[in-house]
Amino acid sequence: MSQDSQKKAAAEAAIRYVEDGMIVGVGTGSTVAHFIEALGPLRDRIEGAVSSSVQSTEHLHRLQIPVLDLNACGTLALYVDGADECDPAKRLIKGGGAALTREKIVAEAARRFVCIIDQSKQVDLLGHHPVPIEVIPMARSLVAREIVRLGGQPVWRDGVVTDNGNWILDIHGWRIADPKALEQQINQIPGVVAVGLFARRPADVVIVGGREVQILS
Ligand code: A5P
Repeated sequence: MSQDSQKKAAAEAAIRYVEDGMIVGVGTGSTVAHFIEALGPLRDRIEGAVSSSVQSTEHLHRLQIPVLDLNACGTLALYVDGADECDPAKRLIKGGGAALTREKIVAEAARRFVCIIDQSKQVDLLGHHPVPIEVIPMARSLVAREIVRLGGQPVWRDGVVTDNGNWILDIHGWRIADPKALEQQINQIPGVVAVGLFARRPADVVIVGGREVQILS
């Protein structure tokens, strides 16, 4: 089964968590694109969606799913998003699509975070995939120096500007034994907007696509 078919299988399995009248938090990326497609036929049964990126907003609009402002929604019942890596404690690396800050906000606002992945995303220890950090542009070098002090190798994702007008550093070379502590340390560096480690707020349910879809809860 191809990686994309696994993503589609996971995304379609997540539809069972969508209930009538819900406002659904929607992540970003190629796996979530399958979820949005599956959500299309339910557009009249849900109140709408809160989106984590311009890309997902445009996709939701194309399917005539109302996109709501998080500030008007309070706590969301459900957030569905993909990930770049997922460990056995459902802690994640996210942000390969540069949408990590809004993804973190919507995940935090949700009671249940359902993460949809293909099998290649499952790891024992986070860090094979670089850890993205969104930074205020003037702080790029300062943050990079601090990251080197923490043992990481920062690479500027040159040419990428986030939906918030910021830049991305991808941090290579970490094998992350304590993701929560590292998340906290990075958050304290001035100029960091968000780090793509989701350890303080891990997923609640992970759906792994495959011939047999696995649901880890
Ligand atoms: C977007 O910024 C990311 O957090 C994505 O959720 C992550 O990169 C997974 O992307 P795919 O679903 O495209 O693999």
